[in-house]
Amino acid sequence: MLSYRHAFHAGNHADVLKHLVEVLVLQYLVQKEGKPLRYIDTHAGEGTYDLRKSFAGKNREFDTGISQLWQRSDLPPAVQAYVDVVRSCNKADTLQRYPGSPAIAAHILRPEHRLQLFELHPEDAARLQKWAGRDRRVHVAQEDGFGSLNAILPPVEKRALVMLDPPYEVKADYATALASLQLARKKFATGVYALGYPLLAREEVQLLVKKLEALPVKSLLVELSVRPAAAGGMTGSGMFVINPPWQLQQQLESCLPWLQSVLAEPDAAPYRLISREENGAV
Ligand SMILES: C[S@@+](CC[C@H](N)C(=O)[O-])C[C@H]1O[C@@H](n2cnc3c(N)ncnc32)[C@H](O)[C@@H]1O
Repeated sequence: MLSYRHAFHAGNHADVLKHLVEVLVLQYLVQKEGKPLRYIDTHAGEGTYDLRKSFAGKNREFDTGISQLWQRSDLPPAVQAYVDVVRSCNKADTLQRYPGSPAIAAHILRPEHRLQLFELHPEDAARLQKWAGRDRRVHVAQEDGFGSLNAILPPVEKRALVMLDPPYEVKADYATALASLQLARKKFATGVYALGYPLLAREEVQLLVKKLEALPVKSLLVELSVRPAAAGGMTGSGMFVINPPWQLQQQLESCLPWLQSVLAEPDAAPYRLISREENGAV
């Protein structure tokens, strides 16, 4: 079943949290000049999105996310770094295009770095390939990202950010995401991994989060709720980062209260930011 199209959701509150984390992690990783780095995206989407086109324009989910930040002059530095990347994809001051995770990575990575992208949906994969164009750093495969990940680890560069952003349109995605992370870590323990998940009143979500929190890894969990749990449906999103850069916790701490005040309804649950050592100590 491949009915999920990310174009409907581009730039929404979950994209803001996910791409904020991606920007902060990659900006840290590229600081080591001359060192090779690979960006692996198991569920890449289209690469970039035109917010004026029908899919994105239909529900205008970007109004719950990037639109709220676009005109602000009081962005905390971490959020500013993310919005600057979105601005770099737009001409002038009008918000028309929203970069997906691959376009964000392509903007931050240098010529010597590599992007390896997986996208299963035939139309999205074709758009992703078109977006990649002649960028020699980018390799696109229309394959199952979960299944392919194991085969490409460890990367020759020995340094990588692996983004896992499944749509969870099938229940099995929850268990597969966890199993993929566990398998991947066996082959490449030092990689940085970032898994996105929705906040939903579903048993599968609670179970996934519980199991992620019990993994014997150094990790950072961040969750941002934008609507009260009683509202039903997707009320926010989370990111689970394994081997987070050392300053990520502090960067998120410094902007989450602001982000919550701008994106969340007053009675939404407070954000969560939990750092864990490999031995489980918080
Ligand atoms: C949440 S979207 C990705 C958004 C993208 N990571 C971003 O931030 O711009 C999930 C994508 O995964 C694709 N997909 C679903 N199952 C997949 C699989 N097994 N392997 C690779 N891609 C898959 C969907 O077609 C969809 O484009």
